[in-house]
Amino acid sequence: MENTNLDNKVCLITGANSGIGKATAIELAERGAYIVMLCRNEKKAEQAREEIINKTGQTGIEILLADLAVQHDIRNAAQAFLDTFDQLDLLVNNAGIIASGRQETVDGIEKTLAVNHLAPFLLTHLLMDALKAAPSARVINVSSEAHRTAAHAFDLNNLQLKEGFSPMKAYGVSKLCNIMFTHELAKRTSGTRVTTNALHPGVVRSRLTSEASWFMYLLFAIGRPFMKSPQKGAETTVYLATSPEVENTSGKYFKNKKETQPADIAYNDELTEKLWEISCQLTGIE
Ligand SMILES: NC(=O)c1ccc[n+]([C@@H]2O[C@H](COP(=O)([O-])OP(=O)(O)OC[C@H]3O[C@@H](n4cnc5c(N)ncnc54)[C@H](OP(=O)(O)O)[C@@H]3O)[C@@H](O)[C@H]2O)c1
Repeated sequence: MENTNLDNKVCLITGANSGIGKATAIELAERGAYIVMLCRNEKKAEQAREEIINKTGQTGIEILLADLAVQHDIRNAAQAFLDTFDQLDLLVNNAGIIASGRQETVDGIEKTLAVNHLAPFLLTHLLMDALKAAPSARVINVSSEAHRTAAHAFDLNNLQLKEGFSPMKAYGVSKLCNIMFTHELAKRTSGTRVTTNALHPGVVRSRLTSEASWFMYLLFAIGRPFMKSPQKGAETTVYLATSPEVENTSGKYFKNKKETQPADIAYNDELTEKLWEISCQLTGIE
């Protein structure tokens, strides 16, 4: 693992109270980063904050509350961040869910797409000026190999799976969107000091199926002994966050700290541009 010094770097991590997000926060705090944990549950966030401080000795750990399924919350959280900080060195879009069934958010959007894709899309937009104000900034999007399951039937006209919904299909679509967003964002930030990359963390012992159906929960529970620890699962995120090897790399997809080819469709410029436009419409970005 890279031992880069992150003193005076501000890192915002979504879903930092659990699993891979918490392990990432610990690794980055150990390197001296000031951590902003964006979480939805105050009690869980406080407990995790204490744990991170106890483990690392880093006291610069702050909580920003927001439900990423609610766009109004994301806007408020971004504003609260901008009221306090002039710059953001590292944004880790990590939070994610597998839903139990098709639910719509208060914004009228299928929940998996809302939390896993539109939330990072909107948050990154709202924080872009702060990212651009940093001497160099990295945006890291935690995707999944599950994106491949959505590639063959990907349909921009049915992103919210009004037709043919299944929880894993929705998860696959959202994780494909993460890589497509990364590809398009890299093009749009080319020539700036902001880079962005996506990754698969491995199959990790976490609470990812806590909102999923009992069947999915059971499958995950049975597989737990064979899964990576959250600390191992955070390795590629931490690599992308800290390694000088990737300081000029942008728009790529990584697995086990190595660049990997995602499903071809993820780098299809026509589709990534259209996904960007649809995402703007769904989040009210001009
Ligand atoms: N675990 C794996 O095998 C695996 C494999 C590939 C990719 N991933 C990806 O890794 C990322 C992290 O997942 P994990 O495995 O570490 O699962 P996890 O332990 O369940 O962590 C997910 C985090 O996201 C937060 N979150 C979920 N919905 C939210 C919302 N509406 N608003 C704010 N925060 C919300 C959770 O908060 P609460 O604690 O309040 O629920 C939790 O902190 C996800 O993007 C996932 O897709 C995981």
